[in-house]
Formats: sequence, structure tokens, C-alpha cells
Amino acid sequence: MSWETERHESRDEIVRLFIASDGAFISGERLSEILGLSRTAVWKQIKMLERIGFQFESSSRIGYRAIHIPDELMPPLVERILPADCPFGNTILWAPERTSTNAVANQLAQEQLPDGSVVVAGRQTGGRGRQGRPWQSPSGGMWFSLLVRRPCALSQAADLTLLASVAVCRALTRTGANVQIKWPNDILIDGRKVCGILAQMRTDGEQVDYAVIGIGINANVTIQQLPEEVQSTGTTLQHALGHPVHRPTVLADVLLSLSELYGALRTGSGGFHTVRDEWVAHAHTLGRRVQVKIGDTLVTGTALDVDDHGVLTVRDEAGLVHAVHSGEVLFSEMERMA
Ligand code: BTN
Repeated sequence: MSWETERHESRDEIVRLFIASDGAFISGERLSEILGLSRTAVWKQIKMLERIGFQFESSSRIGYRAIHIPDELMPPLVERILPADCPFGNTILWAPERTSTNAVANQLAQEQLPDGSVVVAGRQTGGRGRQGRPWQSPSGGMWFSLLVRRPCALSQAADLTLLASVAVCRALTRTGANVQIKWPNDILIDGRKVCGILAQMRTDGEQVDYAVIGIGINANVTIQQLPEEVQSTGTTLQHALGHPVHRPTVLADVLLSLSELYGALRTGSGGFHTVRDEWVAHAHTLGRRVQVKIGDTLVTGTALDVDDHGVLTVRDEAGLVHAVHSGEVLFSEMERMA
């Protein structure tokens, strides 16, 4: 199977036409002429767009006009904002529903999906988080996976997720949210998780052959839409800001920052060390009492620092300093240590 079957040229083209018409009527005849579709096929596309959230006014005499265009992460809506020369997001494969964008991106990576492609879903039915945990992904959120081919050497693999957290941090800051990063790559607002990142990689000797960077942002989602067990620890952008965000703008901002950070990683001119100060400035973890799992051992202590490679140092209660290369912080207490 080719990844190109995931493209929906007619659907995207019709949306482009309605955007360009800026609320004016387009006749059914003109639509079918430009799209090379029958009038019935045009009507079917319109009905399908209505199911996604588009609203049209239609008149048998003058045609259709769009009266509401939803802020879904469809190619025509993102490409209006993303600079054409951005290496990421040239191919955006959007579907109203997918099991998991990471699963689809991993599969399409075997089918020549180009570098920098983004697989997006309106909602996920089988979204996955770290440690194989389920990841609730209702409509209104941002659920997407970026494919990056040959991003770096295996020794720099940890940089990929850390840089992704910096890119998301930058994009969410631009919405007006006050965001922090919980090591290694959870994004928090007011100490509550608003975004999770799941990076999966295929390796080839000492190189990362490709990486799928899955990003889930609770954007225009209410707290009640989050699973009950995370309602006290999670949050959403809409809840924190008091209004919804324009999701295509946020996606374009994430992709622009990622292309800059990964571009520098690839050429060797950048890596986590070049943005460590920025990461530290947003760090939620440092200076706090934390519990981390190192292999099978639980270590409780104070998070001291991250080094140039993103390795976290934790001083345990006996005064021993541990270097934590991977894993996750199981809790970080609210009060900062003296
Ligand atoms: C975490 O556990 O914090 C990581 C969550 C990652 C969720 C995103 S949503 C888009 C992509 N598709 C998935 O199934 N997971 C990631």
C-alpha cells in the first residue's frame, strides 16, 4: 500500500476553494468543473465536510457558500499559516478519526512517507502514551505525529524528545499560556499536564533510521472531557486561557520550531546543549522533591540539574547523586526544597 492513498485531494481542494471565496457563493457547476467531479460527488464532499464541522448555506440557484470553517488541522487550514519553505508539514495527512497517529506514522514510514510529514487525527480511538498507557484524545485536541528520517546519531536520540518539548513550550507560550516542562518532556500549566510527547524510533546501527514524534496537546478540550483519573492532574489550553486557541496556528508554530531545532541537530550545529538554558528557564522539575524510577529502583530525592545531554541529576535522601538518563518523574512535590 502507498501512503498516497491517505491523501484526500478533492476534499482539500474544495476547502481551498471555499477559503479563497471568502464567504461568497460558488456554484455547484463551477465546483464540479474545477474539481473534475460530478455534481453528486461534489454534494457528497459537502455532506462529508458538514460532518466534520463545516457549515454551508446552499441555494439551488447560486450554489454553496461556507458560513463556518472549523479550525481542524486539515492541510488547507495549516498551509495558510505555515511558511511554504518549512521542511516539516509539507505533507499533512489529516483524518477525522484514527486509532493512533503514531501507529499510522510508523506504518507509513515503511511505505516511503516523506521526511517531515505529519499524520493528524481529529480524535484518536486508541491513542497511546508512554509505558503503553492509553491516551484519551477527544475532538478539539491536537493529536499528531511527525516523521523525521535520519535525524541524528543514536547517541543523540534523547535530544529528539527534549527538543520536541522545547518546540511545544515555545508554541504554547505564544498562545499566552505560562508553560513549564517536567523532565523529560511533559508540558505543564499551573503544575498540570497539558501535553505529552511520545517519540518512537527505528535504529540502523549507530544511526536513528527514522523517528516518529507523537505530540498530544489538550487544546480546545474541557476538563470534563479528560479521563476522570487525570482531571486533577491534567489541564487543557482552553481551560487555562479561558478561551479556545486557533489550532492550525499552534501546529504551525510547533512545526516551525521543530524544523529549526531538528535542522540544527542534523547538521551538528545544534542539539539540546544549545537550548538547555531555555529548557532550564521553563523547568518544573529542578529544585523539587521527586521520585524517579531508575531501572527497577525507585529513587526519592531532590532534582538538581540537567546536563548538556538532558541527563537529570537527583540527590537521594542519603546524599548520593544519581544520573537519570531515561525514565520518568513519578511525582514532584509542589513545595520547592530550600
Ligand atoms: C505521554 O504519555 O505523556 C505521551 C502522550 C503522547 C500522545 C500523543 S497524541 C498523538 C500521538 N499518537 C499517539 O497515540 N500518542 C501520541
